[in-house]
Amino acid sequence: MNKLLPATVLLLISSFGYSQEIAFSNEQVEQGNAIYVQHCQVCHGTNLDNGQFATPIKGFFFEMKWGGKTLGELARFTWEQMPEGNGKLLDVEDYIATVAFILSKNNIEAGDTAMSEDFNSLDGIMLPF
Ligand code: HEC
Repeated sequence: MNKLLPATVLLLISSFGYSQEIAFSNEQVEQGNAIYVQHCQVCHGTNLDNGQFATPIKGFFFEMKWGGKTLGELARFTWEQMPEGNGKLLDVEDYIATVAFILSKNNIEAGDTAMSEDFNSLDGIMLPF
């Protein structure tokens, strides 16, 4: 029994995808920044937490709200609901880039690997708040 335990734990870890980490590229952050200024800033503010017409998407309250959820949930919400009342306005690629930009403003670092544009694959990634 004891010998089986490490193997079982490894199997569980790999099958639940805990090894998947958040990844997005600097290019996505830059693209997302441009989209944000054009389509999101009017409500969410220049600083992501100083908008008159929307909840903060940076800092304590945002991280409390989305902590324990997946990247897929956040990306889908943004795609379906934003800009408020006008969801799915932009290309999926632009939504993914904007989510990367938002994450970068929540102190998650960009790297070499781009964020996938496949919502299902983002479901396997926990938000690290
Ligand atoms: C017309 C105003 C408006 C615009 C434009 C807008 N939003 Fe929002 N956004 C809101 C409101 C209001 C909420 C809160 C909705 C809710 O809690 O159901 C929200 C919530 C969010 C959330 C979740 C925050 C939370 O509190 O859970 C994200 C992420 C988000 N918006 C991203 C974006 C992005 C990205 C864009 C640009 C593509 C955008 N929004 C454009 C009004 C706006």
